[in-house]
Amino acid sequence: MSEALIPVSELLTRARTAFGTQFASSDAPPFAGIAPGRVNLMGDHVDYAGGLVLPMAIDRWTVAAAAWSPNPDRPRLLAVDLDETAELDLNAGVNSGGRRVLGAPVGHWSGYIAGVFHELLAAARERGREARALDIAVTSSVPRASGLSSSAALELSIAALLDRAWNVGLADTRSDLALACQRAEHLGGGVMCGPMDQLASLHGRERHALLIDCRDLTFTEHAIAPTLAVLVVDTRTPRRLSAGKYSELVSRLERARTRLGVASLRVVDHSSVSTVRLDPQARTSARHFLEENARVPAAAADLQGGNAAGLARAFAASHASLRDRLGVSCPEIETVVSAAARCAPDVAARLTGAGMGGCAVIVCPAERAELVERRVRTEFETNFRRECGVLRVRAAGGSTTSF
Ligand code: GLA
Repeated sequence: MSEALIPVSELLTRARTAFGTQFASSDAPPFAGIAPGRVNLMGDHVDYAGGLVLPMAIDRWTVAAAAWSPNPDRPRLLAVDLDETAELDLNAGVNSGGRRVLGAPVGHWSGYIAGVFHELLAAARERGREARALDIAVTSSVPRASGLSSSAALELSIAALLDRAWNVGLADTRSDLALACQRAEHLGGGVMCGPMDQLASLHGRERHALLIDCRDLTFTEHAIAPTLAVLVVDTRTPRRLSAGKYSELVSRLERARTRLGVASLRVVDHSSVSTVRLDPQARTSARHFLEENARVPAAAADLQGGNAAGLARAFAASHASLRDRLGVSCPEIETVVSAAARCAPDVAARLTGAGMGGCAVIVCPAERAELVERRVRTEFETNFRRECGVLRVRAAGGSTTSF
């Protein structure tokens, strides 16, 4: 059985109840920020170099329930699912080594929230808005650290909340809220991610995937054919060496771009990548970048037209490139992808997100979903003697607030 869907209303109740208990408040916290995770259907390890991506926001959410803090400079935080608390200091800034933001350690869950507070505080001050502390309780149905953007969902839930509570107005422009969250992740998460996850969580639309051009941040919405099902398989494998490997991949494309002397790798073609003097890793990554970008618009058309066999071919090529050129697969993902792909030629499977553990995404005709799920589960259990998680996901709307 795939994992049950928890509606937003239930997450909201959970966050509000935990808030009341933790902060001894008899009134329900009046404010909330809500943001979805995402699954990327095509275009991985290209967004940080301005590539094309095809994510969809998913019906798994992070909810942040909030009320004004008694101390205007010290937000108190509760991570309901971890049963952990933290406190921020709005006057603490970023410490000299960049290891703490507003007093919270970079890379810790409170560091991500602190990164968002830091960015929204700056925007509020710039616009002459008063920014008082809010106490916040957070809960989520997005699996953590699995490649479904639990961090972007957390960032956007907090950012949407603060933007509205402080009347900052970042949500009034097209993508500023997402860009503030991307900076927050760099600052508070210590990961120099691209803009894909935050844009997907902000702009998600029900029944649609988003084709985002990460060079100019424009996007188009593509309806997902109702004949197709989207499954996410969580290998529950901790992402190995992910931060170091991720920044290494970012720097390979940056080396390629500088050597080629262009403002963006998007203007480059295969022959220049083959002829210019490049170190082998930068060349390999640049080839992945060019081919992966070319696959994105075609995949968007196949998704819309319900061409599952076309998607299966594109997913296979993308997966092979991520595995063989970038080295971001792992045995658990390989098992899932090959078990799914062997079911039928119209079952599309690939790793999704940063890789190195985490999740695989499968798109197939809806009537095959059960069979695919069963085969993947059986093969995974046989190989690893433990269960994987299977989520049937639907495309969801983007971040929002409730005040
Ligand atoms: C992570 C990052 C994204 C993107 C993907 C890989 O999810 O946060 O910006 O680079 O990896 O496509």
